[in-house]
Amino acid sequence: MKDLVVLAYSGGLDTSVSIKWLQKEYSLNVITVTVEVGQKADFKAIGEKAEKLGAVKHYSLDGKDEFAEKYVFPAIKANALYGGKYPLNSALSRPLIASKLVEIAKKEGVSNVAHGCTGKGNDQVRFDVTIKSLAPDLNIIAPVREWNLSRDEEIKFAEDNGIPVPVTHNSPYSIDENLWGRSIECGVLDIPDQEPPKDVFKWITLPEKAPDEPKYITITFEKGSPKAIDDENLKPAELIMTLNQIVGTHGVGLIDHMEDRLVGIKSREVYECPAATVLLDAHFDLEKMVLTRHEVQFKQIIDAKWAFLVYSGLWMDPLKNDLEAFINKTQTCVSGDVKLKLYKGNSQVVGRSSPMSLYNHDLATYNVDTTFDQAWSPGFIEIWGLATKTANIVKRKAKKK
Ligand code: ARG
Repeated sequence: MKDLVVLAYSGGLDTSVSIKWLQKEYSLNVITVTVEVGQKADFKAIGEKAEKLGAVKHYSLDGKDEFAEKYVFPAIKANALYGGKYPLNSALSRPLIASKLVEIAKKEGVSNVAHGCTGKGNDQVRFDVTIKSLAPDLNIIAPVREWNLSRDEEIKFAEDNGIPVPVTHNSPYSIDENLWGRSIECGVLDIPDQEPPKDVFKWITLPEKAPDEPKYITITFEKGSPKAIDDENLKPAELIMTLNQIVGTHGVGLIDHMEDRLVGIKSREVYECPAATVLLDAHFDLEKMVLTRHEVQFKQIIDAKWAFLVYSGLWMDPLKNDLEAFINKTQTCVSGDVKLKLYKGNSQVVGRSSPMSLYNHDLATYNVDTTFDQAWSPGFIEIWGLATKTANIVKRKAKKK
């Protein structure tokens, strides 16, 4: 009997080609695993496609709530953005999918696992490091990386082998979707000075076509996690998917930026991340209301490190858990409401409140009834600026000499 391999299968070009390749080049029987993480897909059709391409068994696993709760919510608590812009949607899903691969491989008693990542991206690192950390004895096969085919050659192979693919030479985008966002790569997007053509966007109404009336929403956070939209409690995955809908309608969440891949390549990346855009913005705003300035400043260092570890495939590194111990401690007071205004591609926090607010109106107000005595300030400034003043006096003197 032929040996087996468990393949992470999305139904797209790379992974469909991989099924055939594993059968042909490695003489392996393929078990496919599709993990539902909030991508808009027909999971029944994906299973049927896998079987049509000769998979001997197919698993379809619903990982939406696990993804939202165990991967996305920690990212919200860490205000996680890479390069100041990318909410890590693809990066966060990889360790979950990799862990499901390992789970199925163990269950089936199989010693080979495979994924469809290329050798030029970050996803290969995320899959491989997670798999190696969970099960160092598993053999990892990455057909697309080993085969080193260009995207056009891949499409040709698919056509020659009767593999139906949702990609054509004219519409060659590589898409990765989950509830935290949609990544779009390849084709004309590889040219960084050209605006993405309208047809790449599927989740978000273009700002110029968005409704003329602004939309207000209020998001309630409890200990750093979003709990409700406009007072309606929603489960994690449901909350995020509902927000994608509302926010996307108003043209908010388009991201187009330059990214530094782990393998040293600069790339132009395009994303649609409606829910992520507003949740991260709202969460950070609330933190700035309830944490001290020292906490806010120091946490930004921790947050940036957390985001970098996750981006660069080190979800399993103990440092991530160490950082989370700090982050979670800070979140005990991040509870309250944040009100946002969505309007034609723009999202703005327009109000916030919290039982743990450090904002003191009596101190902050410029009205006469303030409790802040302005007579305190000159003495404070004398001491605060002393070192700076002294240094400047000395430097001026030295210059004159
Ligand atoms: N640049 C992003 C990242 O490294 C997106 C990757 C998207 N993957 C894809 N197969 N289109 O996380």
